[in-house]
Amino acid sequence: SPSDPDLVERARAAKEKLGDKVFVLGHHYQRDEVIQFADVTGDSFKLARDAAARPEAEYIVFCGVHFMAESADILTSDDQKVVLPDLAAGCSMADMATAEQVAECWDVLTEAGIAEQVVPVSYMNSSADIKAFTGKHGGTICTSSNAQRALEWAFEQGEKVLFLPDQHLGRNTAVRDMGMSLEDCVLYNPHKPNGGLTAEQLRDAKMILWRGHCSVHGRFSLDSVNDVRERIPGVNVLVHPECKHEVVSAADYVGSTEYIIKALEAAPAGSKWAIGTELNLVRRLANRFAAEDKEIVFLDKTVCFCSTMNRIDLPHLVWTLESLAEGNLVNRIEVDKETEAFAKLALERMLALP
Ligand code: 13P
Ligand code: SF4
Repeated sequence: SPSDPDLVERARAAKEKLGDKVFVLGHHYQRDEVIQFADVTGDSFKLARDAAARPEAEYIVFCGVHFMAESADILTSDDQKVVLPDLAAGCSMADMATAEQVAECWDVLTEAGIAEQVVPVSYMNSSADIKAFTGKHGGTICTSSNAQRALEWAFEQGEKVLFLPDQHLGRNTAVRDMGMSLEDCVLYNPHKPNGGLTAEQLRDAKMILWRGHCSVHGRFSLDSVNDVRERIPGVNVLVHPECKHEVVSAADYVGSTEYIIKALEAAPAGSKWAIGTELNLVRRLANRFAAEDKEIVFLDKTVCFCSTMNRIDLPHLVWTLESLAEGNLVNRIEVDKETEAFAKLALERMLALP
């Protein structure tokens, strides 16, 4: 079983043998059995910075998903090796924007005569190819903790933004945080000719949102919010900005995973919270804060793990650490040089945001 004491001991021993040669990063959505071995935990923004701040570690073991490991490889030096304990840990949202689709979209914008006014802003949750496209066209990466600052920066560079691949983070930031209207946003559907938009619609839009979403956060609905308010009078509803606009509009607070943790740390004893994000994190927070008399529940009644995040389990971590300790480099994630150069440009623009 995953909590098998033998596996725990093997992971501990392998990590000890590797010493400073290995640095283990754990995203907040990882399982408890994995998080216990993380040297640092964080949201995707914090982990990107933490990876870059460890030049002495030969191996960066990234307990998270593929796009995060790619970003870590881009931001670390060439002789550091980034390792993903299960290569099948992808992200369905990142897969919703391919390099070919995005190149085609740029052709559509060019034909509509607006490409020169458009600055791409890509969510961290995208492949290295999409990050490279973004860097090549003068854009920046953002995460859920700095999306507003990234958009403000982008609107200083150009008149329109192409936001990839999460429509919800793009719409929620533009409308909720920056005072744009829903009519300022159009939805580009990569499966339709011209994205399903007319040249006129593209010319009128301020935000061109890519039609991608997170299947985990997409499960929360307005009903989930209304139900929990009925069930728990006085509850504070706190959700991640990958949730649908109607959910974010009905919530009391909205923020990244790191923001969610800070808000709960600052919450007074006796307060009640319903959290709309991934279940591993919500359960961990509920346990952690129970002792401080803060009641924390999951926003929806249906189970909502991220299945790809959950692929990284203790057996995979043990196998990875033991392989590295024996000198076998397994599951390395390596972005090719040309992609890396342009993707790095976009990531560095993000890291330089005020
Ligand atoms: P953050 O870590 O930026 O909050 O993003 C959540 C997420 O979905 C990561 O895959
Ligand atoms: Fe991707 Fe959503 Fe899972 Fe994050 S929670 S890795 S965005 S599918």
